[in-house]
Formats: sequence, structure tokens, C-alpha cells
Amino acid sequence: MSQKRVCAALQAAEGAYLSGEELSRSIGITRAAVWKAVEALRRQGYDIEARTGRGYRLRQSPDLLRRETVEAYLSAPRADWEVLESVDSTNSACRRLALEGAEDGTVVMADCQTAGRGRRNRSFQSPAGRGLFLSILWRPGCTPDKLLPLTALSAVAVYRAVERVCGVNLRIKWPNDLVLNGKKLGGILTEMALEGESGLVSHAVVGIGINVHHLPSDFEGQVRDIATSLDMELDGRVCRGKLAAALLEELDYLRGEVLFAPEKWLEPYRTACLNIGQTVQLIRGETWERVEAVAVDGQFGLVVRHENGELETVRSGEVSVRGLYGYAE
Ligand code: BTN
Repeated sequence: MSQKRVCAALQAAEGAYLSGEELSRSIGITRAAVWKAVEALRRQGYDIEARTGRGYRLRQSPDLLRRETVEAYLSAPRADWEVLESVDSTNSACRRLALEGAEDGTVVMADCQTAGRGRRNRSFQSPAGRGLFLSILWRPGCTPDKLLPLTALSAVAVYRAVERVCGVNLRIKWPNDLVLNGKKLGGILTEMALEGESGLVSHAVVGIGINVHHLPSDFEGQVRDIATSLDMELDGRVCRGKLAAALLEELDYLRGEVLFAPEKWLEPYRTACLNIGQTVQLIRGETWERVEAVAVDGQFGLVVRHENGELETVRSGEVSVRGLYGYAE
């Protein structure tokens, strides 16, 4: 309670100093309690300066990802979404909700994932306060082939949301990597469950991870050399609530208008796809092959030319594509 009131008073002061004395008097707590509240706020990410003789000053509030900080940017109210402080994986949480009968379009986002997952059984680093980790549940009641473009279409939804909020154009590394200035900004993991008898998709979960406030020191292991964040690439801090709201709206547009007319987003995908015209490594299990990526076909598959001149279209599940000289090139 004192924390909230100290925070509100510092915010209302708009960066000016408030003495411990003033704070303790206006809130009706001791100066020691003011200090305790300041310490607690600092632990939550508030940047509060303390200066002898002047008092306390709020330099920067943390970019909290909470239901209210997202709602503030939504142009219309939306049902069936939640923001969790921490979860194992938003994809797993969304799947659990699906099994309990959750509605088409249900969204789970989280400030932090303790077991975030990427493609090919990799982990996806998801520290608190840094990224946007979001999964959306689809119940399209169709056969799986109709959902082949789902990952690619979701990449365009992210592209559009980032363009709206940050004014920059991402590139997409086929099929699911979100790339900014040649580095990985995030990725998409789509998982599906089929109904045994009908062969229809009982549910699909599309999980999107975007690095927003990550610092270079937040990336561990192999991703350190290839990953980046919006803060690292852009001037100024991006508001996660604003980005989350834009992404929710783009995903809803995809759900309502584009999914069954995927050609609407074929050209944007082709334009953003950075592999076209490049020599890439095609990785199938343990086998690596050098091929030329020549086009994206009507189902968002990658058309490649083998060294013997033969053309083949590869689909997202079977292969991984790497640049020849690094992550993207
Ligand atoms: C990849 O780059 O291989 C895909 C990464 C997908 C990460 C997102 S974060 C939200 C959702 N929950 C997960 O566990 N994974 C996806």
C-alpha cells in the first residue's frame, strides 16, 4: 500500500525531487517506511534517484506488461486474453486451456517464461521484464493442410504490428524467424493437435516471442551472436503494452479476414522474406545441402534450386534454412 502511494507521488512529481520528509508527511508513513517502499519499487524496476539534501526523484518507470498496460492501447475491448506474470511456456498454457475447451482466439501472454520453447526442441530465453511472449489458440475446424501458411501469416502479423508501433520494417527468415538489421529479433512456434477420427485440426497454437528490452547480456550461449532486441536496434524504448495491443489486433485481423484468403498476405511475406535470391544451407536432420532459394510459392513454401538444377519446394516442418556466411546472409 505504501509502495503504491510513494510510487504515485513520485509519478505525479514528473521527475522533480520530493524530500523524504514531504513524502512521509503527505502519505502518513515514517521516513524509514518511505525508504523501504523506494527499495521495493527499485526491485520492481523503477529507476529512482536518491540525493542527499534533495530527496527522491523518479527517473524512469519500468515498462510493465500487465492487462491494464495492454488494454490502454487496444482500440476496442477484446475477450479471452490474459497476461501472466510468469508461466512455463505460453504455448503450453494455451494448449492446456484448449484441452479445457477454451474459445478460438484465446490469448495467453506472459512477462516471463521459465521453459520457453523454440523450433527443433530449442529453448527460447524469456527473462522477466524484457520481451513479449504471446500465444494464440486457433480452432479453425479445417484439415491441417489449410494451416500450412499459419506460421508465415503470423510472421506478417508481427511485421505489421512492429511497423505500426516502431516504424521499422522487419525481415523474415523463412519460415519463422523475425529479423532486424540482420539479427534475430524473435521467432514463431506453431503446434497443432489433430482429431483422430475426422483428421481435422482440433486446435493449433501459434506462439510468438519478440525481444524488446533485452540487453546483450540477456542472451546466453549460441544465440548471443545472432540475437538482438528492439531496444538494441532502435533509438528509445518500445512500450510492450503498445506492441502487445497492436499484435493482438493484427492477429485478430488475420483470424477474421486473412487466414482463409492467405493470398492477401503473400506479397508482403515475399517482400519481407530475406532468403530469396540467396544461397542457403538446407538442413534436414544431420544433412546439410547448399541450394539457392528462388521463390516463395502460393502456400508459403520455399522453392529452392539444387546444384543439379532441380527445383524443390520445402515446407516449414521438414527443414531449417541457414545463411551461408552467418545467421541471415
Ligand atoms: C523459434 O525461434 O524457434 C521460435 C520461438 C518461439 C518462442 C515463443 S515465445 C511464446 C511462445 N511460447 C513458447 O514457449 N514459445 C513461443
